[in-house]
Amino acid sequence: EKGGYPSFMLKEIAEQPKAVTDTLLGRIDSEGTLHLDEVRITRTELREVDKVVIVACGTAFHAGMIAKYAIEHWTRIPCETELASEFRYRDPILDQRTLVIAISQSGETMDTLMALRHAREQGAKVLAICNTNGSTIPRESDAVLYTHAGPEVAVASTKAFLTQLVACYLVALYLGQIRGTKWGDEIRTVIRQLSAISGEVERVLETMEPVRALARSLAGHDTVLFLGRHVGYPVALEGALKLKELAYMHAEGFAAGELKHGPIALIEDGLPVVVVVPSPAGRSVLHGKIVSNIQEIRARGALTVVIAEEGDEAVVPYADHLIRIPATPTLLQPLVATVPLQVFACELATARGNEVDQPRNLAKSVTVE
Ligand code: BG6
Repeated sequence: EKGGYPSFMLKEIAEQPKAVTDTLLGRIDSEGTLHLDEVRITRTELREVDKVVIVACGTAFHAGMIAKYAIEHWTRIPCETELASEFRYRDPILDQRTLVIAISQSGETMDTLMALRHAREQGAKVLAICNTNGSTIPRESDAVLYTHAGPEVAVASTKAFLTQLVACYLVALYLGQIRGTKWGDEIRTVIRQLSAISGEVERVLETMEPVRALARSLAGHDTVLFLGRHVGYPVALEGALKLKELAYMHAEGFAAGELKHGPIALIEDGLPVVVVVPSPAGRSVLHGKIVSNIQEIRARGALTVVIAEEGDEAVVPYADHLIRIPATPTLLQPLVATVPLQVFACELATARGNEVDQPRNLAKSVTVE
């Protein structure tokens, strides 16, 4: 059943290029136009949406955080992403022009289900992004966009996350397309780039041996920090979550801009810090700022593990370990940047003697609030 892999998790990490391809399949035509047939909310209703609210838990919440950057950029509709368990109980302001997107691999997470029920009671339209056909969350939503990751068995989510990202990008691009924002040309270009992205994920998977060796070498540490900015921030949070779930280590993700407002006090000699670096200067103004952050933490003794695009030479002098990822458009970078963090957590957990498919205290789908 594990197809020759030692764990479901490793199998599912390896299946990601196919999962991404399958989720895109049939949704982009030869002209580069998006078709989302399962969306049963009319185009008119979607054109009238004036606010998007994304609700989800765990790894799906991180996909939702990334979606916020894409939706606001390509559609110019205000978008907020909130933990489903918080959203429900703070009396959120919603109406018929609010589009709520509920992201859930299992489609059974009670916190997310309660959030969507509450949203529908307020008259909001709910679009589910889900991996499990016919599960409760899509059944109770106005529309569903299924991710085609195939069954995910390992408790810690990997391939479902990548396909949730793809689905979120599709929704963002589709909304941008039907509403005709000034980003029309960019949207067409990104649709093409998204179609080619599974090949890039494949390339990342082929270069993971040094990441595994690094993970094994860090198995004796207690703490690992993760830094990122813009869409790299949720990627940092996801890297930290994976390490908590699988390796039972103290792992924290921070927005790199916040470093100086507190977390830098944690830096001490030999502390591993994983930094997700945005596209080099010219394409992201944040690049230079992150390079300064890497210098700052290294000067204070951190062991820097830098995830940066191929060709990004500015980071080289400050990286104790350098993990290369292919160059992608800024907003799509999480699709390639997350993969090394999954491999890292899985290998580190294994080196610590943990069972990666069934981490202690966790369940694949949590059907209680
Ligand atoms: C958790 C799982 O408790 O539920 C996580 O252990 C998952 O891996 C989270 O991200 C949300 O699950 P779902 O099915 O709603 O995406």
